[in-house]
Amino acid sequence: MKQPKRYLVTSALPYANGPVHIGHLAGVYVPSDIYVRYLRGRGADVLSICGSDEHGVPITIKAKKEGITPQEVVDRYHRIIKESFERFGISFDIYSRTSSATHAETASAFFRKLYEQGDFIEQTTEQYYDPEAGQFLADRYITGTCPKCQSEGAYGDQCEKCGSTLSPTELIEPKSAITGATPVLRETRHWFLPLDRYEAFLRQWILTEHGAENGQGREVWKPNVYGQCKSWLDGGLLPRAVSRDLDWGIPVPVEGAEGKVLYVWFDAPIGYISATKELFARRGDAEGWRPYWQDEETKLVHFIGKDNIVFHCIVFPSMLRAHGGFILPENVPANEFLNLENDKISTSRNWAVWLHEYLDEFPGKEDVLRYVLCANAPETKDNDFTWRDFQARNNNELVAIFGNFVNRAMVLTHKYFGGRVPAADPAAGLTEYDRGTVGEMPRIKAAVEQHIENYRFREALREMMNLARLGNKYLADTEPWKVIKTDPARVATILNVALQITASLAIACEPFLPFTAKRLAGMLRLPERRWDDIGSLSLLAAGHELGEAELLFEKIEDSAVEAQLAKLEAAKAANAAACATVAPAKEEPVQFEEFTRMDIRVSRVVAAEPVPKTKKLLKLTVDTGLDTRTIVSGIAEHFTPEQLVGRQVLVLANLAPRVLRGIESQGMILLAESPTGALSIVAPEADEVPAGSVVG
Ligand code: 2FM
Ligand code: ZN
Repeated sequence: MKQPKRYLVTSALPYANGPVHIGHLAGVYVPSDIYVRYLRGRGADVLSICGSDEHGVPITIKAKKEGITPQEVVDRYHRIIKESFERFGISFDIYSRTSSATHAETASAFFRKLYEQGDFIEQTTEQYYDPEAGQFLADRYITGTCPKCQSEGAYGDQCEKCGSTLSPTELIEPKSAITGATPVLRETRHWFLPLDRYEAFLRQWILTEHGAENGQGREVWKPNVYGQCKSWLDGGLLPRAVSRDLDWGIPVPVEGAEGKVLYVWFDAPIGYISATKELFARRGDAEGWRPYWQDEETKLVHFIGKDNIVFHCIVFPSMLRAHGGFILPENVPANEFLNLENDKISTSRNWAVWLHEYLDEFPGKEDVLRYVLCANAPETKDNDFTWRDFQARNNNELVAIFGNFVNRAMVLTHKYFGGRVPAADPAAGLTEYDRGTVGEMPRIKAAVEQHIENYRFREALREMMNLARLGNKYLADTEPWKVIKTDPARVATILNVALQITASLAIACEPFLPFTAKRLAGMLRLPERRWDDIGSLSLLAAGHELGEAELLFEKIEDSAVEAQLAKLEAAKAANAAACATVAPAKEEPVQFEEFTRMDIRVSRVVAAEPVPKTKKLLKLTVDTGLDTRTIVSGIAEHFTPEQLVGRQVLVLANLAPRVLRGIESQGMILLAESPTGALSIVAPEADEVPAGSVVG
């Protein structure tokens, strides 16, 4: 497209059912923030939009598990996410949420317009229904054996073991995740968006206009994005349900839709529009959002991870097309995934680096993480984050190149010129070598721009660092600390050049390292920072007084890295312990030290009662000799409460607590399972051992 009048940049709305981790940051939020900061630096009219995605089944599952309401879940995580983005310097113009009233209105109006235009098809299908809970079951609420790999615990929409996409009726021995009951098929009526009707439009728009051969002045989409779209289109598009039987979400705004809500992926992308409206409402300009969404001269860019491609490139554009009142994205630069220490990031296994924890554990090092995540961003393939690489990039690049250059230029100016920018020697002027050096700056500036505008942020970062490398090399080659003895006028020139480079660096690094840029500009007392001034030799006037020299980066010691690795090891161990309660580990022998970590105690059951609405669970109160605590155990089909009260049992007392059906279970009862599946309680013989005795 020709030079846009304004930019609207959206970043995928994170689900408010957990905090954000480095995978989210590297895939979406660091790149989008670099992009918008760069555009602002250039003086462009740009908005950066984000917010929490607060609907969907996982939030309701989490709420049930913890015995709280979905609203409480989203309130908790919305706050954590919003705050951690702010602390990390992600500069959204608004961070909204999809439980807002504006969003409910906007999404309902959107649905109603399509409904009234006859853009949906209504269909009655059979879906699983839990007769005990009295509700239809969303795909995620049904578990069973995967028909493809036979592993247990597959969900109605996906098997996480083998990655297959499933439909609930394919599951072998399906069970309701709410009550454990076997679900039955029941008829239900839903609204479907017939994606097949948009296929011709999508082919033209994506494959022709945004394909590599386009020649129509539109942006060419990344191969991973284009490829995924093409395979969806070649596979043939089918109608997609846009409503669900659920009690959490935006009610379907038509008659006869009681108990039905909009599918989360219908309402979430509309959240970008609602958030833009909210932003302008706050600014007292209720109609101000319109040009951003309705004027063809706006460039709309969606930053997302690869799992969101189909929704942003196929489904949402079809919705926008059907609606008719909005522009389409010019680009959707989706990233691949980031792994952590050679393993897939996993929320459930706690295999992640959580942003809010990082910020607490590495205060003042926001830019280090931004740097490493950008340098390693999974732009064309999945990539790996390791703590060793984090340390190496900090110590060898940020400290040794960037920090070292700035520090030398500052310290030498303070030492030789009392902290005032020296004038370049008017008699001798710049040498050819000086001119070669400063002549590199416009080239670097142009390269950073080109890379950012083409969503190649790793390359852009590398070029920005070339500015620091240039300065470092310049000082190393010109050796002002030696020349000062013989030719102070030459040193004035050298430091003038070096300081102009630091000033350019303060501007060029801002999109990537905003905290550093601010500190550096403060140190230089750089009055203004305009992107187009990068490379100028008059950013700092002769005689300008610099601030104090401070170190911009400090070394990260081995101990810090080791602490993080130990934390990950602990997560692994906790996980292994949790899995061992399900299936015995076969491959690896248990080390003695691991065994001694288990605190197993003789205990006595003092009370027992069934957990309501479950078949299997009993809530036990046990006296461990240390304390009286609650344990939820899946033994109701094997023992009655009466059989248990008064009996001695063995309790794994230092098992991490788990919340089951809203009850915190603080340990595990040890049981023996016979080959036929019968359970017996493992306990000392004939009550001879007092409660609290340690087993081991
Ligand atoms: O994948 C996710 O985390 C989704 N919550 C992204 C939604 S993006 C947009 F459509 F809201
Ligand atoms: Zn499977």
